Amino acid sequence: MAFNPLEQTGIPVHDQIRNWSELNVTPYDKHTVDPYTRTRVILMNGIEVESILFSHQFARHTDDIDLKRSLAMNRRIDAQQQKAVNGLNPGQQTPLETTIGYEQVAVDLTAWLARNEPDPQLKAALDFALLEDFDHLYRYANLYDLLHGGRAEELTGHLTEITPGRPTVLEHRHPYDEVRPHFETHAVDPLSRMHVMTIVAAEQQTMNFYMNHGSDWIEPIARGLYAEIALIEEQHVTHYESLLDPLDSWIANWVFHEFNEVYLYWSMFTHESDRRIKAMWELNCEMEIGQLQVACDFMRRYEGREPAELLPPSLPEVPVTFEPNKDYVRRVLATQVDLRADGTDYVDVAELPEDHRYFALQATINEGGAPSEEVIEMTRAKRHADHRDETEGANPIATLRQPAS
Ligand SMILES: [Fe+2]
Ligand SMILES: [Fe+2]
Ligand SMILES: [Fe+2]
Ligand SMILES: [Fe+2]
Repeated sequence: MAFNPLEQTGIPVHDQIRNWSELNVTPYDKHTVDPYTRTRVILMNGIEVESILFSHQFARHTDDIDLKRSLAMNRRIDAQQQKAVNGLNPGQQTPLETTIGYEQVAVDLTAWLARNEPDPQLKAALDFALLEDFDHLYRYANLYDLLHGGRAEELTGHLTEITPGRPTVLEHRHPYDEVRPHFETHAVDPLSRMHVMTIVAAEQQTMNFYMNHGSDWIEPIARGLYAEIALIEEQHVTHYESLLDPLDSWIANWVFHEFNEVYLYWSMFTHESDRRIKAMWELNCEMEIGQLQVACDFMRRYEGREPAELLPPSLPEVPVTFEPNKDYVRRVLATQVDLRADGTDYVDVAELPEDHRYFALQATINEGGAPSEEVIEMTRAKRHADHRDETEGANPIATLRQPAS
């Protein structure tokens, strides 16, 4: 049932400090965890990281001591929440296994947001990058098989298919073609704003994770693949953040961040199958309501505005949901695999002139081969086939099917 967080008190911020035993949580068991519990943990860690980084940036852009102190207080709590949430990942889960979880988040979060996005331009942006993260899942699944004989479908639980999307090697675009038109803050559906904020945070966390873990490896193919996909995640952050209206004030953005955290913890709570983790989502939701009250108070005092004028009257009826999106992803793949970006538009690759900067950048960056292709060739050489989990039949694109051996 939807509720209005502005009418709740939640937990007052000054009652939210927790001790070490509360923060040093017992991780889930990687062999029995619901794959979508893993994705919820990954998403909410990324949401907290975004809130913390946003708050640090805000603090560097104000000279008001009261504001800085309240930002520091809320930020400390977000930092505590981040420790408790990310601590649910177990140490036996390798960075590559976590990576496969990250790409499952990217696929099923992006597809769900696209299916529920009212604005056609924003939906197009989600569909466009969806096919790219879908391909990343396939490339990393092959790396997992190649290096460890791993079966990525044991992590994804067959809930998300593993097969090529828009091939990673073709995703490298000129930076100028990564910038989109933004929504208008006065006209946008508040739900759309939350969708964009959520995907920005998720992609940013993926970018950061690959930046930090790309050097964990001895094998050059692994180091190369992380470097290549990390750069695409940087493109994705550029792509998605450009959709946000820069007109919103810092304080308004603070309010939106806290509101979105309330919405997402409530969403995770609604579908969580693990009772212990469900209790964490519920606790954090109550905490975010308390943090939201602080941000709203600053909006009233410093901007003379009522937050209710900017926020929806209640949380959306439908919680953000992790669920299979196989048919949707296949439909988008069948119709949009050949799309490329041209300035702020998406066009079929056949429509790009030969001298387009896309081809120039492709020729430069892929000169000498790309790790995302090499990992497939190496897996085929070792196992006589690349690694896939096509639960709904062959890939809808003929050229992306398993070659006859
Ligand atoms: Fe938080
Ligand atoms: Fe990705
Ligand atoms: Fe991505
Ligand atoms: Fe927060």
